[in-house]
Amino acid sequence: MSKSYSDPLAVANPSVTGSLARLLEARLSRRQVLQGATLLPLLGLPLGCATPGMRADTGEIGFSSISGSREDRVRVPAGYSANVVYRWGDPVGSPAGMPAFMTDGGNTAAEQALQAGMHHDGIEYFAMPYGSQSSARGLLVMNHEYTDDGLLHTDGFDNWSAEKVRKSQNAHGVSVIEVENRAGQWSVVRPSRYARRVTAQTPMRIAGPAAGHASLRTAANPAGDEVLGTINNCASGYTPWGTYLICEENWNGYFVNAGTIPPEQRRYGVTARGAGYRWHEFDPRFDAAANPNEPNRFGWVVEIDPFEPASQPVKRTALGRVKHEGAALALTADNRVVYYMGDDQQFEYIYKFVSRDPYNKTDRAANRDLLDHGTLYVAKFNADGSGEWLELVHGKSGLTAEAGFASQAEILIKTRQAADRAGATKMDRPEWTAVNPRDKSVYCTLTNNSARGAKDQPGTDNIKGDVFGSPDGLWFDPAGRLWIQTDVSTSVLNRGDYAGVGNNQMLCADPATGRIRRFLTGPKGCEITGVTMTPDGTSMFINIQHPGETASERSDPAQPLAVSNWPDGEAAGRPRSSTIVIRKDDGGIVGT
Ligand code: FEO
Ligand code: CA
Ligand code: CA
Repeated sequence: MSKSYSDPLAVANPSVTGSLARLLEARLSRRQVLQGATLLPLLGLPLGCATPGMRADTGEIGFSSISGSREDRVRVPAGYSANVVYRWGDPVGSPAGMPAFMTDGGNTAAEQALQAGMHHDGIEYFAMPYGSQSSARGLLVMNHEYTDDGLLHTDGFDNWSAEKVRKSQNAHGVSVIEVENRAGQWSVVRPSRYARRVTAQTPMRIAGPAAGHASLRTAANPAGDEVLGTINNCASGYTPWGTYLICEENWNGYFVNAGTIPPEQRRYGVTARGAGYRWHEFDPRFDAAANPNEPNRFGWVVEIDPFEPASQPVKRTALGRVKHEGAALALTADNRVVYYMGDDQQFEYIYKFVSRDPYNKTDRAANRDLLDHGTLYVAKFNADGSGEWLELVHGKSGLTAEAGFASQAEILIKTRQAADRAGATKMDRPEWTAVNPRDKSVYCTLTNNSARGAKDQPGTDNIKGDVFGSPDGLWFDPAGRLWIQTDVSTSVLNRGDYAGVGNNQMLCADPATGRIRRFLTGPKGCEITGVTMTPDGTSMFINIQHPGETASERSDPAQPLAVSNWPDGEAAGRPRSSTIVIRKDDGGIVGT
């Protein structure tokens, strides 16, 4: 999601004292910023391995760069193909019902709950059966970050109603779809017992140190241990035991508070008007004046087990409460899990979580509560190029009762304030993090920061003129190629400094040489986000989010095709966020 839409009053932490910008002025070149290698290294990620019958993948980039594009289609290098797998409104495949998509936005809220949500984002592939390395059958699990209600309903925001709020809520959340590959052609299995939608109304448990805290209790849930739904699910993560992690990002925009906004809400960007979702008009949970604790129940990392369709998602409070972009996994030498996490807002921080216990490789169920115990850290960078992780632990880093943190639960609910107190380094909108499987170094996209004073600058110092701007998605494939996905805001796309950049795109970098090549260009008005591969590397799944978005970031329902009619190309249709699969025509590993 681009920033202006999600966060109209963006800067909650406006000071530049102790910011990365100041440190970098003193020390680093821009290239070093992009490489972001000042985080502490970790041990233990598995290196990529060769599939039987294939040569070992050295991680070299084997395709030629394609040109930038303003065309309304997906373009990939010669020798590759890209095909649509799962569009907004496609039936998820639930045995409970498979309503067809109505091209005029006419599906009901109940039908939307059985269809793909809007605005696909983070995505992971889980081979089936569990524990296998199958590249022929698996579960694709993906986030649906937010809605464009101008497209979602036939008449957009006109005649706003409880039904429209419910449809918007049902277009949020997560899809679990079963997919299969027959002779190189991927399709969704329908029906499937695994097919599932999680929405902004799905009951989920609150677990970990903050569960039950007074700040999480509401009239509807006096115990403070269960909440309805997850919202603004941005990038994703996974666990070694085959569960999926949802990261709640710009959740503040769904709340409004027309009264005096308390500091706890202000620090997270709750405002009088919100971001325009208008849920509060028919769902009082999102009136943060009437229900001041409800915002505290969002901003978490949520774990969901795609292999157990009836299982309840769990909000894992030990990983802190911020605007979570994503959660990139690493392992310590003794198999404790580590997650690197960006808090995507101007002048916010980079975090990591380290589990207390190693995960159990042989007993999946033994890992059920592993993410409820561990230590949360926030990054501090020093001017000499070193860095340190500050423990966000009660009694450490200045986090005492006298400083306003009565318990570990309070530290986790007020993670941003705790990081302020600890002295973390303010960053330029940390988006995705990624761990290099070859040397364990950690990378982070700092997408932009127009509030820092300098203008947003698209990248211009890479090789072969493959310019791009606002890097967001960031992912290492098992062989060590770094995939970069861009999210230039529609308001500046193809204008000004971005005039020569073209539509949003996906690039591939070789960290060893710094070489970057453009691999894919998206249709008009989209961002590229979410990326995963089959275990054999021959199929890559990515998401095309908000094709056809206009500068206002709210579509006019009378002119749904003002920018794009991708992917259907139908005169009467609407642009649809979609999952696509990319394969090499010769069946080889994508990127080689
Ligand atoms: Fe949802 Fe920071 O992108
Ligand atoms: Ca972004
Ligand atoms: Ca993002």
